[in-house]
Amino acid sequence: QAQDAAAGEKVFTKCKVCHIADQDRNLIGPSLHGVIGRTAGTHPNFAYSAAMVAAGKSGVKWDEPTLTTYLHDPRAMVKGTKMTFPGLKDDQDITNVIAYLKQVSK
Ligand code: HEM
Repeated sequence: QAQDAAAGEKVFTKCKVCHIADQDRNLIGPSLHGVIGRTAGTHPNFAYSAAMVAAGKSGVKWDEPTLTTYLHDPRAMVKGTKMTFPGLKDDQDITNVIAYLKQVSK
């Protein structure tokens, strides 16, 4: 699947109520700036659910495969997460939003 970061920026409007990606600022959700390569649940200034902290301790690191699984169905991958977002059903949207996150994560 081709990755389209510009299309991903549009998908990210669904995330923007809770996340900022181009700055290190937390909203309802943790900043996603630098999230690629970050261990789950480890932004130093965000109060995560116990479930997200446990995911990180068990070795979950945010990369393409783990983000794909999480964004498809967050509450199935991290049972007890406080991210109340049902997930993205379109695989192309997921690929594109990850491309966007990669771009702003650098
Ligand atoms: C956590 C991505 C939509 C609220 C996370 C994490 C990622 C993520 C990667 C884990 C971050 C970390 O471990 O540091 C996204 C994307 C979204 C989206 C790409 C859109 C497709 C939303 C929405 C909300 C939200 C709409 C609010 C209604 C949260 C919260 C957490 C979180 C509260 C912390 C979860 C916990 O501690 O269990 N999100 N998110 N997210 N997100 Fe989202």
